[in-house]
Amino acid sequence: MRLDVTVLVENKVDRLPYGAIGKHGLSILLETEDGFKILYDTGPQWEALVHNALLLGKSLKDIDAIVVSHGHHDHGNDLIPILDYIGRDGIPIFIHPLAFNRKADIKMNSDKKDLLDMKVDLRLSYTPLLVYKGIWFSGSVPRRDGNPVHPVRNDKGEVIDEVLDDTSLYILGEKGIIILTGCGHSGVINIIEHAKEVLGVDRVYAIIGGFHGIGQPKGYLERTVSFLASEEAEILGPCHCSGPLVHSLSQFPGFIDVRVGTSISFEL
Ligand SMILES: [Fe+2]
Ligand SMILES: [Fe+2]
Repeated sequence: MRLDVTVLVENKVDRLPYGAIGKHGLSILLETEDGFKILYDTGPQWEALVHNALLLGKSLKDIDAIVVSHGHHDHGNDLIPILDYIGRDGIPIFIHPLAFNRKADIKMNSDKKDLLDMKVDLRLSYTPLLVYKGIWFSGSVPRRDGNPVHPVRNDKGEVIDEVLDDTSLYILGEKGIIILTGCGHSGVINIIEHAKEVLGVDRVYAIIGGFHGIGQPKGYLERTVSFLASEEAEILGPCHCSGPLVHSLSQFPGFIDVRVGTSISFEL
């Protein structure tokens, strides 16, 4: 079965599609050959999401499921106007339960009650959940390497949020695992190891999304680059908040420069 993955919102835009809006954030559309559509993250602003989707010839009206990678505003904002725009009850929304516990001001702009009022089918889970044939919501990612990864600190430098609600999508591809990350707060190494455990497959074919390279502890970037080198993924698309990792990984054979409109087809 073919799976088409299209980036609807990202920090960067290209000359084409002309007029696309770049925003600090991420939103990716997944479309299966048999007609199931998943919206992975909504980005920071619904107008940018809908505008870019229409420019790219993608309808969001017939979305079958939404997955929110974590409760930061650049990934899960404007769920209410988006649900209004879709205009149907009972849409499943997969999200980590801790996504609603955030105190810091970078939290997304809806809470659990807002969503339940919109009559969504809220799928809160700490553990992996099947979204659709071979496409898994990761649930909590164990942090065996580099814990915590880019935590939120208060004025005194104390850690107030380890972003434990960070999740990814793990997809069972014909040539290996396809991983879509949000911000990657759990750490790319941890995410890959977890994806292998959840799917019971050792080969990683593609990893695309935020690899959170900004503000990381000493040694993290070097360790991540050498780990990714050993994985030899055929498609490597660090974007959004990957920071210096984009430059380091741009020399890899599988590197792709992800921006609004980037589209890739996979076989599942
Ligand atoms: Fe982010
Ligand atoms: Fe984030």
